[in-house]
Amino acid sequence: VEATPRLSKLQEKSIVITAGPTREKIDDVRFISNYSSGKMGFALATSAAKRGAKVTLVTGPVHLPTPEGVDRLDIESTEEMDLAVKEHYQSCDIFIGAAAVADYRPANYVTGKLKKNSKTMEINLVRNPDILAGFSKQKKKHQIAIGFSLETAGNLDNAKEKLEQKQLDLVAYNTFDGKTSGFEVDTNILTLIDKHMNVYELPLLGKHEAAERMLDIVEELINSDK
Ligand code: CTP
Ligand code: CA
Repeated sequence: VEATPRLSKLQEKSIVITAGPTREKIDDVRFISNYSSGKMGFALATSAAKRGAKVTLVTGPVHLPTPEGVDRLDIESTEEMDLAVKEHYQSCDIFIGAAAVADYRPANYVTGKLKKNSKTMEINLVRNPDILAGFSKQKKKHQIAIGFSLETAGNLDNAKEKLEQKQLDLVAYNTFDGKTSGFEVDTNILTLIDKHMNVYELPLLGKHEAAERMLDIVEELINSDK
């Protein structure tokens, strides 16, 4: 006799997930970006879809297949990601910011190709909109905002600050060491802090397992509120 599967709290929930890097164009052939692989965001999208959620994955340029049952939107720049997310402000129950968003973009975009006609050069950068904070600022009572906090090791307090400043329901503190945690690798060491200041220290896990554990905690958070 098979056990009746437990109904997930995420069943039928609309979840928007950002993933991957964003790219900010300097000219037609160059851009500013980062090493994000998109693996963590895609793992979250996969797990959420398996739990019966309606998942929209807004992703920067990555080399990953679209998870089954997930609605994928490909964008390049932070402003494009911001616009795509804004389309879902009303309909979304849970927003997870897993993208490594470029904090700045070149103030001016050069059509064509910049020539190397001087010994040094300067590129003026301007701040990008904060997509996660933007969602959080306008969110209704039933909506949940979740962010990541990528920090050098030992800076858990920075993650707590982001939780408070961006008024998040949950933050995933994530260090990078280039081997077991952070960008481009298949594993992650996450510490999750919820808005009640409950702290969950996850061990070194594959990103898919880390995503499952993270969504278990999201489900607990939904339980504790309702
Ligand atoms: N984020 C975002 N839009 C931005 C910058 C960040 O949505 N323009 C989101 C990220 O997806 C992540 C969280 O905010 O979920 C924290 O990103 P992080 O880079 O760690 O923090 P910042 O707030 O950008 O601050 P800093 O880079 O100075 O640490
Ligand atoms: Ca940042």
